Amino acid sequence: MRDATPSSPDQTIHLSDYAPVPVTVTHVDMHVRLDPRATEVMARLTCRRQGPGEMVLNGEQLDLVSLALDGEPLAEDRYTVTDTTLTLHDAPDAFLLETVVRISPETNKAFDGLYMSNGMYCTQCEAEGFRRITWMLDCPDVMATYDVEIEADLPVLLSNGDEVAPGKWHDPWPKPTYLFALVAGNLVATSDTFTTMDGREVALNIWVRPGDEGRTGYAMDALKRSMAWDEEVYGRAYDLSVFNIVAVDDFNMGAMENKGLNVFNSAYVLASPDTATDATYEWIESVVAHEYFHNWTGNRITCRDWFQLCLKEGLTVFRDQQFTCDARDPAVKRISDVLKLRTRQFREDAGPLAHPVRPESFVEINNFYTSTVYDKGAEVIGMLRTLIGPDAYDAGCQLYFDRHDGQACTIEDWLACFAEVTGRDLTQFQLWYSQAGTPRVTLREDFNNGLYRLDIRQDVPDTPGQTDKAPMVIPLAWGLLDARGKEVRATEVFELSEATATLEVALPDRPVLSMLRGFSAPVVLDFDQPEADRLILLAHDSDPFNRWEAGRTLAKSRIIRAVTEGAGFDAAWLDAVATLACDDTADPAFRALALGLPSEDDLAQTLHQMGVVPDPDAIHAARKAAAVAVAGRLAHDLPVLRDAMHILGPFDPKAEDAGKRALSAQLLKFQTLLDDGAAARAAYDAADNMTDRMAAFACLLEAGDPSVAGQFEADWQHDRLVMDKWFTAQVAHAAPDRAVGVATGLTRHADFDMTNPNRFRSVIGGLTSGNPAGFHTADGSGYRFLADWLLKLDASNPQTTARMSTAFDTWRRYDADRQGLIRAQLERLQHAETSRDLGEMIDRMLA
Ligand code: TRP
Ligand code: ZN
Repeated sequence: MRDATPSSPDQTIHLSDYAPVPVTVTHVDMHVRLDPRATEVMARLTCRRQGPGEMVLNGEQLDLVSLALDGEPLAEDRYTVTDTTLTLHDAPDAFLLETVVRISPETNKAFDGLYMSNGMYCTQCEAEGFRRITWMLDCPDVMATYDVEIEADLPVLLSNGDEVAPGKWHDPWPKPTYLFALVAGNLVATSDTFTTMDGREVALNIWVRPGDEGRTGYAMDALKRSMAWDEEVYGRAYDLSVFNIVAVDDFNMGAMENKGLNVFNSAYVLASPDTATDATYEWIESVVAHEYFHNWTGNRITCRDWFQLCLKEGLTVFRDQQFTCDARDPAVKRISDVLKLRTRQFREDAGPLAHPVRPESFVEINNFYTSTVYDKGAEVIGMLRTLIGPDAYDAGCQLYFDRHDGQACTIEDWLACFAEVTGRDLTQFQLWYSQAGTPRVTLREDFNNGLYRLDIRQDVPDTPGQTDKAPMVIPLAWGLLDARGKEVRATEVFELSEATATLEVALPDRPVLSMLRGFSAPVVLDFDQPEADRLILLAHDSDPFNRWEAGRTLAKSRIIRAVTEGAGFDAAWLDAVATLACDDTADPAFRALALGLPSEDDLAQTLHQMGVVPDPDAIHAARKAAAVAVAGRLAHDLPVLRDAMHILGPFDPKAEDAGKRALSAQLLKFQTLLDDGAAARAAYDAADNMTDRMAAFACLLEAGDPSVAGQFEADWQHDRLVMDKWFTAQVAHAAPDRAVGVATGLTRHADFDMTNPNRFRSVIGGLTSGNPAGFHTADGSGYRFLADWLLKLDASNPQTTARMSTAFDTWRRYDADRQGLIRAQLERLQHAETSRDLGEMIDRMLA
């Protein structure tokens, strides 16, 4: 049994303990002889002392064959080996350390280090996978150049940098171990070129399994656009003669930015109209951009230690969001990003897993690749840019690139560049990195004798290990409208930096406040705004985000009242929704978002914040009732509206068409509530692309069509990525009282393979994220199902298991019975023999 005390102190790593290593490695020479069970890794490390102390190398599951220092076998009394360390007791000032180890990629189902996937060899080293390949200083502040030679009887042998001879690679850019990569297999490439702004030609390749080469076009296009964008907007050019992307089916996350050799989960790179939805295309575009942008924010300038993870991730998410805003509709993108932030990050921030954007301690770093580090980390960059302005932001970035190129940096290094170019003290701003929890901004307004007065207060909630927090710097973008919806005060940014503040404006008439335009800060607004004002904002706000937000708030308050008071849906609201649905001057993508009702988890979170215990069944029922009411109100318009969204000609993933398909899908959902799936059946049969097909499939599942799943399966059985969607959809769209049964049934399907992370997520995540009322079934079967599968997967893949365990993190929101049932499962996991990854998560959730 594992030690059940919360994260036993000896395992915890603290930011405050950071110290540079006494001996560093400046060059790595590797020779890898690939074999499924007995890969031999010969490594020659060029080492140099930079301070006093012993050299402690990291290694895990390595079979040490030999060890030599400066060409001589190392005497046994000069080193100590444990399961995870190799200590050199008397390392000289400069020396070569040579090791030979044997490893077994075929049996590696953690997909961390060197592993095999469908006969192909592949590595994943972030965060600490390199130590599973060979003995090395496996920390990000040790940056070395690499020479890699790969020996294998396979046609394609890839590593970082430039290829100097077949199977031989040289990476001239010093990099930390986590950016190392090696790929070998029977792969085929789609190739293209890109000429950099300084006139160098770069070869671009996307490597896939034979048969998948017809699905790389969109990723290649996204890559070239990303390269051009980073030159134009950040002045950053690519720095090697080749850029390789590899698609792999077994992958724990989306993709990885290894220097010159990005590795992608095949779900985030392969797309064809027949197999990918618009949502997939958009992910691919943003993930390709994200990984590419890491070349400067992450690779050329990396993190000093893992506590600084947001230095590369928050910044790179911000950059990929900017890219998508430029490539597509920025308002639609902002709304989607805020939706994601609220469902994932606000949820995390409100529960037992809350942590600062820069955490101060961890047991397992893989558990901190979180929405807080990524998405709130990006929001913090966005706020910085809002506060200092785009020009100062650009100047600060250029200073950062000039000053820190080739270094391993901290958040302080980053912020110092902006303090320097603006002369501004960013000390208080830095609290965004250290104080966890979503600030609450409370507004109270008053209009009297020509004076509009707004009282503003901020509260930063307590989070695990943090109480009594200091006020933050919160940029509040605001504007005013008059009663007819005309803007009487254009957007300005008010910097809230005290606990309370007051805004006063002299005006002839009472205005309508449009607060937090563009969602200028990741906060919860507590504002009892009159409904009439919200309707004006919904109809007229010049800020599209706040138009959407007004509609969202109106919808939410109705569904909440339906849950708490059994209230019905009023004509005023339904009319406003119908007006928006029929407003053909508005962008279809925007209308689709505006018609989307708040998710069940979002509603549960809101109820919880109001001090009401959320009842998952009541939420599900009320949300459905709201959809039925909207559908009824729109009944006569639906066919016409859907017709207007019809696209002539072949499928094109461009944003404009995707928006039409999104609105069409949203309308079909309403239609299905009126006709039991008749229109959805017709749409399914007529679909000539996966976006329309999936939309109709989901509707038919909701309508309880018994035959559609079988039909879909017969058509798409051969395609693993499409089948992932098939698995997910059936669980997510099952009636709540059937969802656990459906999920359980699917885990017995011949094509369910627990070890494939995409497949595991499609079924288990289909329940926990896709079907909240099903997961929270009162008998606790959903909780037992999740715990059973976490226990099964943990032995082979702790990273994915620990990530999936976060489905339990909202457990304290629920009623005593559900809390008891979840606690029982958490305790069952805590008492089982589990990985450090899962153990840390369970301990934190139970703490
Ligand atoms: N650094 C990667 C990114 O954000 C993500 C990543 C971190 C990752 N750890 C991983 C990917 C482990 C796969 C496996 O782009
Ligand atoms: Zn990243």
